[in-house]
Amino acid sequence: MADTSLLGDVKGFEPQDHSKNANHAATAPAFFSVHDIHAYYGESYIVQGVSFTIHEGEILALLGRNGAGKTSTLRALARIGSPAVTHGEIWLDRQPLHRMKSYEAAQNGLSLVPEDRRIIQGLTVEENLELARIAPSPGWEIERVYELFPRLGERRKQEGTTLSGGEQQMLAIGRALVRNIKLLLLDEPYEGLAPVIVDEIEKTLNIIKAQGITTILVEQNALRALALADRAVILDTGTVVFDGLAQEVLENEQLRHEYLAI
Ligand SMILES: Nc1ncnc2c1ncn2[C@@H]1O[C@H](COP(=O)(O)OP(=O)(O)O)[C@@H](O)[C@H]1O
Ligand SMILES: [Mg+2]
Repeated sequence: MADTSLLGDVKGFEPQDHSKNANHAATAPAFFSVHDIHAYYGESYIVQGVSFTIHEGEILALLGRNGAGKTSTLRALARIGSPAVTHGEIWLDRQPLHRMKSYEAAQNGLSLVPEDRRIIQGLTVEENLELARIAPSPGWEIERVYELFPRLGERRKQEGTTLSGGEQQMLAIGRALVRNIKLLLLDEPYEGLAPVIVDEIEKTLNIIKAQGITTILVEQNALRALALADRAVILDTGTVVFDGLAQEVLENEQLRHEYLAI
């Protein structure tokens, strides 16, 4: 089997696990699959064997209480290095992200929009987009981002950090789209935003979906995320406690109470 050395000295890592995946991949590969990911911050064991798959073009809501491990899971998938992934596999469109550094995962089509949005200070809206577009394979034209988010077009010469929270979120998503992405990871994009702005962003996520981009949406606003998503994965203390249709979660009061407090 192929090189797994980047996984380091993995406790209990069994290469024969790959053969099962390889056979599977030969027939019906999931567009994105996460297989038994374990990750640590130092000694703290946080992501405790997370597995799930996503079909191309789906929106998956990744939910769970505060501290459940949602951000840590996104960071692990984006190969950020902290938390350190010690075990498991991450496949995006047949590419083994678990063997990649974060920049390689990004070059292979993964984009994480973190909770704090990371708008670059001192740069205008347009400069933020131009900088992001300097990638080995550029994605959307900047004008197309402005069509999706007319507010950004109107404010193209304004410094990005002076935008409202909602506009900054739009800019952060726009920055992902100008790169050639396959999988968009959004960490609490609705946080602190007025409901009308959430409506606007939701609409654009549907447009992005119609373009075939796959999205993982982490949200505290579980009801809104579930209304938008096709499927849901619920985490609790770093493990998957539910994996199914978003609609099933909406209909399952016990599940909502127990893990989402809604
Ligand atoms: N940098 C870090 N170092 C150590 N522990 C962390 C760090 N970041 C998060 N944690 C811990 O990991 C757990 C999961 O956190 P996180 O992934 O941020 O959860 P969520 O995004 O679901 O709220 C929490 O117990 C949190 O305290
Ligand atoms: Mg979080």
